Parts: sequence; C-alpha cells; structure tokens
Amino acid sequence: MRTPLIVGNWKMNKTASEGRAFVRDFQQLVEPSTDVEVVLAPPFTALESVRSSLGATSRIMLGAQNLHWEQQGAFTGEISGSMLLDLGCRYVIVGHSERRTLFWERNEDVQKKVRAALACGLRPILCVGESLTERETGQTERIIDEQLSAGLDQLTDANLKTVTIAYEPVWAIGTGRAATTVQAGDVHRSIRAFVANRWKDAAAATMRILYGGSVTAQNAASFLESPDIDGALVGGACLNPDSFAKIIAAAN
Ligand code: G3H
Repeated sequence: MRTPLIVGNWKMNKTASEGRAFVRDFQQLVEPSTDVEVVLAPPFTALESVRSSLGATSRIMLGAQNLHWEQQGAFTGEISGSMLLDLGCRYVIVGHSERRTLFWERNEDVQKKVRAALACGLRPILCVGESLTERETGQTERIIDEQLSAGLDQLTDANLKTVTIAYEPVWAIGTGRAATTVQAGDVHRSIRAFVANRWKDAAAATMRILYGGSVTAQNAASFLESPDIDGALVGGACLNPDSFAKIIAAAN
C-alpha cells in the first residue's frame, strides 16, 4: 500500500549543463510507472535545467537537498522553501548527515526546516541515522528517537502524511559498506513503532521509510524486497543514469 520512492541525491555534483545531459540519457532508460515514484535532487544551480529538461509531463519529480527555515530576508547564501517550490520542487531533503556533521545542523535546526517545508507545501524527507561509534556503543535507537522527536515535533496527522523518513546510517554513506537488510529492517521497524506510539498506527502504516547508504544497482533489490523498506535515498550510484535506472527497476 506504500508506493516505493527512489530519490537520487546528487550532492555537490553536476553543473546545470551536466544535469541536462543526465536527464537526456536517463529519460531513454526510465519513465516511471505509477508503481514507483522517482525524485532527482540536483544542486540548487541545476534545478532549473533539470526541470526544463524533464519537461512538463514527466512523472520524474524534482527535489532539493536543503532549505532555509525562513521564507525570505537577510540570510546571505540561503534558499527558502518558496523559492524551491517556485522552481518546481516537490520534495526537499532535510537533516542529511552531511548537513548535520559538516555544517553543524542541530536537531532544532532540522525541526525548523521540516516545519518550513511543510508550511510552503514541500514534502520533507527527514534523514536520521547513527554514527559507527553510536552503533557500537548501543545508542542507535536513542539517537534516532532524538532525531525523530525533534524533526517530527508537534506535527499533525495531516502533516505527517507528507513526510518521508530516510534511515541513513552514517557509517554506510559513501563507504561501500551498506547496512545489511536485517540491520536496516530492524531500524525501520523501530522508526515505525516510534511513529505509531506518538501518533496513530494508521500514520505509521502509511509513512514511507527509505534506506540510504551505499545503495547500488547490485544490492538495491535486497533492500527493496524487504517489507519494511519503502524505497531508497541514493548518493553515488544515482550519478550514473544506467545504475540509477537499474535501482529504479528493482523497485518496480
Ligand atoms: O543521500 C544519499 C546518501 O547519503 C547515500 O549516499 O549512496 O553515496 O552512500 P551513498
């Protein structure tokens, strides 16, 4: 009952013209059916070229990698949700571990960003995940509960319906060392239990929880076949049209 969602996070890769070339190749390989949703999340500077290359009728959606929590004002270098919406974005990634660790985003910042996204009609993809030390010292559930408590604080049932969670163990991102499906499934179940506990079973049952961290064309099917995993947030392997298309095919 949950439509799989595959998100390609380009991170700080590809210029606007490289984005255009990617879409040209990618659209030869993929035009998603109603059985799977696909989102491309290029850097801000490539959003417009990717949007126009996709064309108005494409089912492939546009997402951004970050937003500021204010709508406008004196925030040099920042981008607001309404600016992203105006460019055609439907989704926005919030609280990615690279934002948390390299740019010092705290849980309270992530909370403001989730609320700002929802306020302007963007669908937030809230990223959570533990570091290797946190996993090895048995803190995974506590850390993720804290991230969820902050990120989802005071959301209504209606708000929650448009939120996606991405579980990305920090130690699996860009390392080639993906979590096992058992490790990912365990955390996904505990995320769903957290949501069921704070809201309702129905909210938990409909919420999509993606796995991210070294997903490839080779291992995608093993994640996507798991009943607890509703899609993938893909980094490195989404930069190549062919490998990203194979990951999408695994979700179909
Ligand atoms: O947003 C995507 C994740 O950080 C995963 O990146 O697939 O390169 O490990 P990765």
